[in-house]
Amino acid sequence: MLCVGLKILPFLPFMEKLISAGPARTSVPDCFILPPELRPSPRASSGSASLPVIDLGRGRDEVRRAIVDACRDIGFFQVVNHGVSEPAMRDMEAVCEEFFKLPAADKMAYYSEDTCMPNRVFSGDMYGDKGYWRDCLRLACSIPVGDTSKDWPDKPRRLREVAENFAVQTRGVGMELLRLLCEGLELRPDYFEGDITGGGLAIKVNHYPPSPDPSLTLGMRPHHDKNLITLLLAGSVPGLEVAYKGEWISVEPVAPDALSVNFGLLLEVVTNGRLKSVEHRVVNNSALARTSVAVFILPVAGSLIGPAEEFLGGDDNDDPPSYRPAIYNQFTR
Ligand code: OGA
Ligand code: NI
Repeated sequence: MLCVGLKILPFLPFMEKLISAGPARTSVPDCFILPPELRPSPRASSGSASLPVIDLGRGRDEVRRAIVDACRDIGFFQVVNHGVSEPAMRDMEAVCEEFFKLPAADKMAYYSEDTCMPNRVFSGDMYGDKGYWRDCLRLACSIPVGDTSKDWPDKPRRLREVAENFAVQTRGVGMELLRLLCEGLELRPDYFEGDITGGGLAIKVNHYPPSPDPSLTLGMRPHHDKNLITLLLAGSVPGLEVAYKGEWISVEPVAPDALSVNFGLLLEVVTNGRLKSVEHRVVNNSALARTSVAVFILPVAGSLIGPAEEFLGGDDNDDPPSYRPAIYNQFTR
């Protein structure tokens, strides 16, 4: 696989490359002030929405229908009664918050700008020479986990054990949602088993320190997730915005026992465009730090991904493929 290490904020001193490792800021440093067209202008956010709530304890028919409906409408939803235990979620929130409160040297021990490193700490992404106001701890997790967690930070003391437990339980929910979606879309029942979900997990702990001026910064740029399904432990501080009918809608914090769920570009390809992945971004907050945990279920590296036959036309070919099969790692919009 071709990997290109990305330079991030090259002009900052090493110990200030993480926003949460540098000195507390009273104004936004120049290198984080986005150009006006990218700033979250007040006009752009046109309202707020609570995500549809799907209770996985309800009857299978009802749940299956609710998932497909949510995918066809806002494209994001929250699930409750999902089977990830309350302690697993609260422990994950606690260790992730603790991680970003560690002394700078402990975090910088894992700092890397090399995007090929499976486990690393880094800051934001770049738009030209400007950075987004986010720190991130990325963890790679094989399934079964085996000894992958040995490469994760060993501080806070419980991070490895807690993150592994949370990730494994959360993947179970993701796979169950994919089985339900398969039934709802009338795909063959094992469609999402195998290579398409066999590449393990990427766990991204996103940390958005308070921004001295949230009208000048953005925590995460507008993007589509590339993979099939993402499960998010969003915490209680708002920030996530979803593109809906041409506007940015801010998502109200989900219930503490809920996980929010969205599908990525891979589902769009598989369904030949019938279900769309939804663009989203994160705005900053001036008072509170926000920490979220996104679990991405990944395909095996190098898998060939294309529309499922079930979504292509029959003999009359009235539904030609809208997407060429492509190797997942080379996937672009
Ligand atoms: C992501 C993402 C949203 C959030 O990690 O891809 O969209 O609320 N995160 O942090
Ligand atoms: Ni995302």
